[in-house]
Amino acid sequence: MPQRIDGSGETIRFTFEGREIAARAGDTIAAALIAAGETATRQSVVSGAPRGPFCMMGVCFECLVEIDGVPNRQACMIEAAPGITVTRQTADEVVA
Ligand code: FES
Repeated sequence: MPQRIDGSGETIRFTFEGREIAARAGDTIAAALIAAGETATRQSVVSGAPRGPFCMMGVCFECLVEIDGVPNRQACMIEAAPGITVTRQTADEVVA
């Protein structure tokens, strides 16, 4: 399980699948989710299997989530913000 190196930084909170997630200011959504133990961010469109962040640099698209009702957002490229609502991208949502 990945762990943070230090405990400094302002804490912000958002929700993921209804769970409150604490992140540090400047964290990407993917980094905050991994730090919170949430490794599955979407479902495979082929099998429905859980998928999660892999490259953490915007290349693989394994980290797609829905943010405030908008699907197909890359969690590794978007900074966490206070109060946002993040959900897993389900297999029935089409990748644009
Ligand atoms: S983890 Fe690869 S694009 Fe986000």
